[in-house]
Amino acid sequence: MSNCKVIALTNQKGGVGKTTTAVNLGVGLAKQGKKVLLIDADAQANLTMALGYNRPDDIPITLSTVMQSIIDDKSFDASGGILHHGEGIDLLPSNIELSGFEVRLINAMSRERVLKTYVNEVRKNYDYVLIDCMPSLGMITINALAAADSVIIPTQPHYLSGQTFEALLDFNWTAEAVTNVLDNAVKYTPSGGVVDLKITEYPSYLRLDVSDNGIGIPEEEQAKIFGRFYRGKQSAGVDGVGIGLYLTRDIVNKQNGYIKVASDEKGTTFSLFLKKFREQ
Ligand SMILES: Nc1ncnc2c1ncn2[C@@H]1O[C@H](COP(=O)(O)OP(=O)(O)OP(=O)(O)O)[C@@H](O)[C@H]1O
Ligand SMILES: [Mg+2]
Repeated sequence: MSNCKVIALTNQKGGVGKTTTAVNLGVGLAKQGKKVLLIDADAQANLTMALGYNRPDDIPITLSTVMQSIIDDKSFDASGGILHHGEGIDLLPSNIELSGFEVRLINAMSRERVLKTYVNEVRKNYDYVLIDCMPSLGMITINALAAADSVIIPTQPHYLSGQTFEALLDFNWTAEAVTNVLDNAVKYTPSGGVVDLKITEYPSYLRLDVSDNGIGIPEEEQAKIFGRFYRGKQSAGVDGVGIGLYLTRDIVNKQNGYIKVASDEKGTTFSLFLKKFREQ
């Protein structure tokens, strides 16, 4: 079905009704005669259990199994592992193995596009593919975002529920932001080049400079590279989806910091200004 829509349901905060939304949206669409596949992309397997599969850890083929065969370059059967549920929806289940798999994924080739490869294979059989993400911005969630055509962020009308990100000085997210910039420095610098990291402390900011002597970013692209899915002209032959800097800027901004870029044909420096956290 060429018009299949792929939708990721995501929110950094747990308990906001992602799984409930996934199930109800899925069943509702199925009742309208649509062919629907739900993908459980959370190691806690809430969606899998919500659909009545009470022992997810006993299920032999799950999301991590199919993603692993893609990484291993094995051929896979597009209908393999898919469970057919009584409500007229299909499910690719998940279980605890997904959390171990997430760690292995970090070192895989095209690590952010593994789920997209799977989805591209199965979407011809469906009108809708809904991906229920885990409440964190790890590699699996990034895979879901890269695979999706659109995103639904379920929130609850609760005072704090929209503010989780803003208030947060979170180690893992900051690490994700820094990793993306380092990843670029390595990726866009030919072998034999130099990547340098410098930390400077200011009264209210920590400044982290990541410099490389790679291919540089043309001036007219420098404002665009933080856009979602923007890829530079020079990156044509290099793997990527254009999400790295978008996420980095979002993470840094939401922690009250900012990011700057300086670049010419001799190389590039990204400066991350991270707001220092004052304990009261
Ligand atoms: N250190 C750098 N040197 C040269 N170009 C860079 C550098 N960092 C980023 N770019 C340019 O900015 C673009 C956007 O970067 P971004 O990290 O968002 O996406 P990507 O690296 O293309 O893909 P992804 O990070 O999603 O795998 C890149 O496509 C590249 O053209
Ligand atoms: Mg990148």
